Amino acid sequence: MDGPPMETMRSFERYNLLLNGHVVRSPLALSAMAGIVDAEYALARASHIGVAFLGGFSIDGPTMEASRDLERSGRGEFLFDDPVEEMSRQVSMMEGSGIVCGLNLRGSSHESFAAAASQIGDNVIYEIDAHCRQAPLVEAHSGEYLLAHTDLLAEEIKALKREDVSVSVKIRAGISSDDCLLAKKIWQAGADIIHVDLMDFGYQKVRQIRNSCPLVLIANNSMNTFDRVRDMFSHGADLVSLARGAEVHTLAGLDAAIERYTDEHGWYNAPKQLCRGGDIRALAFCCMPVKNCPLLPMLDRLGLSREEYLSFKQRAVAGTPLEPGAQTCFGSLAWCCKDSSPCMFREMTLAQYGLSNQEYMRQKKQLADKIVQHLFSKHAEPHTC
Ligand SMILES: Cc1cc2nc3c(=O)[nH]c(=O)nc-3n(C[C@H](O)[C@H](O)[C@H](O)COP(=O)(O)O)c2cc1C
Ligand code: SF4
Ligand code: SF4
Repeated sequence: MDGPPMETMRSFERYNLLLNGHVVRSPLALSAMAGIVDAEYALARASHIGVAFLGGFSIDGPTMEASRDLERSGRGEFLFDDPVEEMSRQVSMMEGSGIVCGLNLRGSSHESFAAAASQIGDNVIYEIDAHCRQAPLVEAHSGEYLLAHTDLLAEEIKALKREDVSVSVKIRAGISSDDCLLAKKIWQAGADIIHVDLMDFGYQKVRQIRNSCPLVLIANNSMNTFDRVRDMFSHGADLVSLARGAEVHTLAGLDAAIERYTDEHGWYNAPKQLCRGGDIRALAFCCMPVKNCPLLPMLDRLGLSREEYLSFKQRAVAGTPLEPGAQTCFGSLAWCCKDSSPCMFREMTLAQYGLSNQEYMRQKKQLADKIVQHLFSKHAEPHTC
């Protein structure tokens, strides 16, 4: 039996990122642009992206009428007599491309989303457009309307999940009175991915959302430089997406820079240390709770006692390469800092156990995953925003 191709395995080892059951070859995504981002557009960028959200497509009477209005006023739109047939055709064009495919959908009722998913199937991610602010779409109870009517948004997520498909929700930051609460609602309704147009809010918003839910988080808006992309990754983004600036040369440059960074450091979206403004995953690098530092207020907000934190981390590293470390400050690599903080004692320990720096960081990622899983299961409502 043939195994997965080498390139797919390499991508999985590098980023450890799966969406809709598929290995993601790069944490770069295309964000939807109505009238522009179709299969042909995505395929022309296939060498440098991991995910593409095609669309947006209007999928029922009210939203198709809104799209016609927008087209008459001069905006580009995708308009088809039978949108489901066209979307199926687009999805089949993407097969074999190595790109994980998503469809950005504008619908006015949960039935419309369920109907599209039942016909197109589960080989694609369904992204609810809760982002578009054009008046005709908002009046059709789509786009940004959903940010003010979160019960309808939750119904739409649940209807898609009943079809057993992967669900992303595209939001615009700063429209809801509380983006953290919104993220929690999206998570608790069953979505898999939250895709956030950050507007002017920057990485602080990424950290807030990361600290509010365990969903895959895609950061969007002006992700045109590696410095900006790194800021998003180090505050909690799993992927970044581009729309207006998605030129082939920009994507190629970002893809190569992310790959180089990952091969050097082992964990492409490692958080900053907590005392340098890191998100909840930074607990993987935190010391034992013995001094007055940002760890203690963080544990308070999480509702975790010092003892619980200690014993959780000890259990999480038991039997892993992070367990030993008699020569380190706290007797185990579990409590050791990020690779960017030089430390002779940690390096001696890694050398003693034959662990490369990259493997050390990959182990820290596994620890962070366990921490996030624990916090959002046992403590379903951590107040860390
Ligand atoms: C012409 C155009 C059409 C867009 N259409 C959609 C859409 O249909 N659905 C959606 O969720 N976002 C849509 N967007 C928003 C983009 O996906 C993205 O969130 C926004 O442009 C900010 O990201 P950027 O700085 O990478 O362009 C559109 C943006 C543009 C410029
Ligand atoms: S425990 Fe250590 S790493 Fe964490 S915030 Fe305090 S000083 Fe920083
Ligand atoms: S041994 Fe070095 S890396 Fe480990 S906690 Fe101490 S200072 Fe940090």
